[in-house]
Amino acid sequence: MTSKNRARNKSKKSKKEKLICYCNKIPLRVVEEAIDNGASSLGDLFDRTQAGCGPCGGSCQPELRKLLAKKLKPKS
Ligand code: FES
Repeated sequence: MTSKNRARNKSKKSKKEKLICYCNKIPLRVVEEAIDNGASSLGDLFDRTQAGCGPCGGSCQPELRKLLAKKLKPKS
């Protein structure tokens, strides 16, 4: 593996381990997997991951909505 590939893989991994819900320590990867496995609303994400229902009152919900919109957007 070249150093360029290693750097790319490291960058991908760190992106995937980025937390999206700090209250419940839910990584972006977990939310993306939930959407890939059928979550299609904030309620679904709450039920499957606990993201968005922490003591802050849901400050991550706008980001969760963006992810849902992006991943559920019909491909044209
Ligand atoms: S950061 Fe997600 S509920 Fe607080």
